[in-house]
Amino acid sequence: MSQTIRDAFPVLTRPGFHYLDSAAMAQVPGIVVEAVAAHDRTARSNVRRGLHELARRADEAYDGARATVARFLNATPDEIVFTGGCTLALNMVARGLAKDLGPGDQVVVSRLDHHSACLPWMELRDEKGFELRWLPVTPEGRLDLSDLASVITPACKVVSVPHASNVTGAVSDLAKLAEAAHACGAKLVVDGAQMVPHGRVDPRALGADFYAFAGHKAYGPTGIGVLWGRAELLAGLAPLLVGGGMVGSVSEDGFTWAEPPHRFEAGTPPVAQAVGLAVALDWLSGLDQAALHQQEMALTWHLLDGLWAMEGVRVIGPMGLEARVPVVSFTVEGAHPHDLAHLLAERGVAVRGGAHCARPLMLALGLEEGTVRASLAAYSDRADVDITLAALAEAIKVLR
Ligand code: ALA
Repeated sequence: MSQTIRDAFPVLTRPGFHYLDSAAMAQVPGIVVEAVAAHDRTARSNVRRGLHELARRADEAYDGARATVARFLNATPDEIVFTGGCTLALNMVARGLAKDLGPGDQVVVSRLDHHSACLPWMELRDEKGFELRWLPVTPEGRLDLSDLASVITPACKVVSVPHASNVTGAVSDLAKLAEAAHACGAKLVVDGAQMVPHGRVDPRALGADFYAFAGHKAYGPTGIGVLWGRAELLAGLAPLLVGGGMVGSVSEDGFTWAEPPHRFEAGTPPVAQAVGLAVALDWLSGLDQAALHQQEMALTWHLLDGLWAMEGVRVIGPMGLEARVPVVSFTVEGAHPHDLAHLLAERGVAVRGGAHCARPLMLALGLEEGTVRASLAAYSDRADVDITLAALAEAIKVLR
């Protein structure tokens, strides 16, 4: 399966190039690049504003893209908000929900959070005066849910967690978190950026109330993200941005909000990017989902196995394949992650080194310098892993 998948990605035909930085940005299949270009060639117009032919085509394309994303998430189109990215989606939910919060309330974030998930709540805590609590992590980099009742209490209004960690690859037990959050009347906000690239997701069935992800990590264009919310919750949520396209009526005395999803899409939306994202998600959901998972996990195991065999290498993350995505972090004794990433890049291997926008996790695990992260995707193959391991062995020799 992997060679066929690989053939769909023009950049991966470059000889001697091994891309293991998909958690930062996945590569894009040729059909997505072509769909974006074709949209701009044949249907480039603003949406929900024009009556001419191109406007009609753009409306159809944009509405069609929303319907595709809805299918991917087993949701309805009115629950799908297109945003400029996952960060914007998470900020939108945080600002919207925090409107009603104040002293005496609690919000729970986690030490596994990407900065885009926890920083909005840190800023809002300072503005609104609610208490911010942090779900701890286990030494192997999973959310520690062993004493949930002491963290999520009846004063809790929001619980915000990643579906999968961008550092350790650990997948969160959303069912358990949803049960704890809902028992207290709190909403569960999920950062799905690292989960969606690995196959179809059903946020409602998982117990989420809001779910966000980015297009560029899911084989789609940059500059687009998605916020899914339960229809009844979106209906009560205040928009972050106001402007054209999100209003019901306007007079000099005031204005009313449009219904979701348009309420959350002020200004000109990323139309061509939405079209590209829909093609990417259709491509992803068209793959055999079980085979994809099996392939990604087999490569993850191969990578883990190779890392465990290397002296001085410490894997940061789950030691097995259960409840994980193919994102693998590690450190090397006596070597800075940036130096390692640099030496790997010189050998044609693209990885990321550093804190991965996850300082709270680095502090919790005592990893001041961060980690090296190798992240795999549907197009990764055994040669990517073999060459990464060989390049790492050479890099370690250089640094010692
Ligand atoms: N959030 C992206 C990453 O984890 C940038 O690398």
